[in-house]
Amino acid sequence: MPSRIPTGDHKGRAGDHKGRPYGYGRRCVGLALFIASCLASSIVAETGEQLADRLCVDCHGEFGRSETKDIPSIGGFSEFAIMDLLESYRLGFRKARAITLDDGSENDMQQVVDALSDEEIETVAVYYSAQEWRPHDQVFDAELARRGAAIHSRKCGKCHPKGGSVPDADHALLAGQWRDYLARELRNFTSGKRRMADKMKKKFDTLSESDKAALLELYVSAGDY
Ligand code: HEC
Ligand code: HEC
Repeated sequence: MPSRIPTGDHKGRAGDHKGRPYGYGRRCVGLALFIASCLASSIVAETGEQLADRLCVDCHGEFGRSETKDIPSIGGFSEFAIMDLLESYRLGFRKARAITLDDGSENDMQQVVDALSDEEIETVAVYYSAQEWRPHDQVFDAELARRGAAIHSRKCGKCHPKGGSVPDADHALLAGQWRDYLARELRNFTSGKRRMADKMKKKFDTLSESDKAALLELYVSAGDY
């Protein structure tokens, strides 16, 4: 596992990052204030759970089960999927959305990812992949979901097997993800705000707006239609 570099669809490009000095090596330079914390983190590396509690739980919830409808649940995604999705921020494939936290401060995925070393990304990915994926129970239109299932198996199932419900697949889980979040991502793919894998784009671009609405119902149904 450790040698597995997340590439997903961005093959070739991810390689550019291989030699880049992420993490404390870069952050420590010249900043006395950071040295103590850098030393601490290099001597006693945090566990995945500690990283998640410190850096992710405010938005993604306990065990990666988000309680906020426009923030995705991530607990139970495969290790590869999490690393690949985090990598997509580094590559600029995805623009992070600012979230206002309870204490009034703002944070977003770009800042989160920029502050993580490669080791920390892997550690936190291992932690979340060990959690259980529990689909969110949401209202859906069963007839549309059935139509979505037919479209999905023809155009999307190869990369998102079984309606996007297979935890150890290489990509984000879709089945039982929050509706508001998924609807937003589908819009972002359509507008080009979020870049897609070339092979996904080929299929996605053949979808009508009503196809996308049907697919959304399928994912929201978590296959229980
Ligand atoms: C300030 C809130 C916030 C924090 C903190 C945060 N995230 Fe996120 N995360 C989001 C939002 C919102 C998204 C949805 C995409 C977007 O809008 O940028 C997201 C998306 C993701 C995704 C992609 C999920 C998908 O289905 O595509 C992963 C993986 C992820 N975050 C992991 C993490 C990890 C690991 C941490 C901690 C190291 C973390 N996030 C911390 C808000 C946050
Ligand atoms: C060739 C493989 C492939 C095919 C075919 C494919 N996808 Fe994807 N899909 C991906 C990858 C890779 C990602 C993660 C992208 C990233 O890293 O940002 C993804 C992500 C997504 C996401 C975002 C999930 C999230 O939480 O981040 C949605 C929604 C999605 N795909 C829907 C579809 C639909 C609908 C189709 C069929 C029209 C489809 N995909 C076909 C590879 C594919």
